Amino acid sequence: MTRLSVNINKLATLRNARGGNNPDVVGWAVEIERMGAQGITVHPRPDERHIRRADVRELKKVATTEFNIEGYPNAEFIDLVMEVKPHQVTLVPDPPGVLTSNAGWDAKADGAFLRPVVARFKAAGIRTSLFMGTDAEQIAAAKETGTDRIELYTEPYALHFSKDRDGAVAPFAIAAKYASSLGLGVNAGHDLDLQNLRHFHLNVPGLAEVSIGHALMCDALRFGMENTVGLYLRELR
Ligand code: PXP
Repeated sequence: MTRLSVNINKLATLRNARGGNNPDVVGWAVEIERMGAQGITVHPRPDERHIRRADVRELKKVATTEFNIEGYPNAEFIDLVMEVKPHQVTLVPDPPGVLTSNAGWDAKADGAFLRPVVARFKAAGIRTSLFMGTDAEQIAAAKETGTDRIELYTEPYALHFSKDRDGAVAPFAIAAKYASSLGLGVNAGHDLDLQNLRHFHLNVPGLAEVSIGHALMCDALRFGMENTVGLYLRELR
């Protein structure tokens, strides 16, 4: 089974636009779980432009499914994750101020930096995942960090999907098989949507989890949140 983890950053962006608590991000997380999502993902950034550190603390109290915190592991992020102890932490190599994650780790170059961070989280009982591209040498280097899983960065798949869906998914299928052969779990995320999700799911073996935010929230404007969560779950069946 591939789990759907809903990234709720966009709800926080909407809330922050007016300064009050509408929409109520924590309340929506509970609703989204009730609607069938098997996980909630947040990506607190240093400028708190969407999810705030206070949200992360509140979400941990109410989350009944898998709680996944993504982010760049600076000291502040590491402290927050160690305090909150989510089920999973997904480390992304985002430079500060970037609009959204736009690359996987260079695990060959960053291995020495990542290894102690991964070890610290794992020692605290938190599953670790590294945001990665499909390059085999990079995946082998990710394995060397001690991480439990990788999250495949799927924007390149989404970009090429409409022109050549089989060509677009092929490197991800190969990467997922290779990662599994090394004993790594495989997640995926970025720009997955109702058009491209099923093909990815059908062709990438052993996919443990997809993390989806932007497209799902846009679809919720059209179909309503409950229908939308149901539509994404249907693609994963
Ligand atoms: N995975 C990671 C590491 C991300 O940074 C993001 C975006 O915050 C996602 C998945 C979800 O991407 P999208 O919002 O395009 O579904």
